[in-house]
Amino acid sequence: MKIAIYPGTFDPVTNGHLDILQRAASVFGEVYIAVAHNLHKNPLFTIDERIEMVKRCTSQYSNVKIDQFDGLAVEYARQVSASVIIRGLRAISDFDYEFQMALMNRHMNDNIDTVFFMPHEDYTYLSSSTVREIVRFGGDVSEFVPEYVKNELIRKLRSKS
Ligand code: COA
Repeated sequence: MKIAIYPGTFDPVTNGHLDILQRAASVFGEVYIAVAHNLHKNPLFTIDERIEMVKRCTSQYSNVKIDQFDGLAVEYARQVSASVIIRGLRAISDFDYEFQMALMNRHMNDNIDTVFFMPHEDYTYLSSSTVREIVRFGGDVSEFVPEYVKNELIRKLRSKS
């Protein structure tokens, strides 16, 4: 059984991430969503809040586990016996960064491969920061995030304003 990790900051998780997850979960025996602490990105949501949102949006999958990590993704993958890192490629602009990260990760651990999935074209321009920005300025993100995440964004951004 192939074990994969899907690392990211998930600040917050979006329908684009969930689209990638759905594809990955149908290919790999087990997928760990690895929520990165990533404090240098100064996340809007705490690690616990990000994990809770991911949990609520992925409860339908029996082969998906949610976890957190700090440090190198390859090291986390090794700890959970994963041989694959899942990444999403939304557009050609993602490629340079992803290519560099995939090769560096392979250089650090040649037993771990990066596998890319492309999300549905509806999510090509989606990112967590655009969703945060839309909510901050009072826009509707219903088509981009699950209901629970939308409500958490409104709660968080209203309490900040
Ligand atoms: N749908 C919607 N948005 C997506 C997406 C998708 N399918 N895929 C990526 N994104 C968005 C994310 O929401 C994020 O948006 P934001 O920057 O506006 O918040 C942006 O694209 C970048 O996401 P991603 O590329 O997944 O980066 P990340 O910052 O969330 O996570 C890590 C990057 C944590 C996976 C990576 O830095 C890492 O592995 N860190 C650990 C240290 C390490 O091992 N580094 C590698 C050494 S070479």
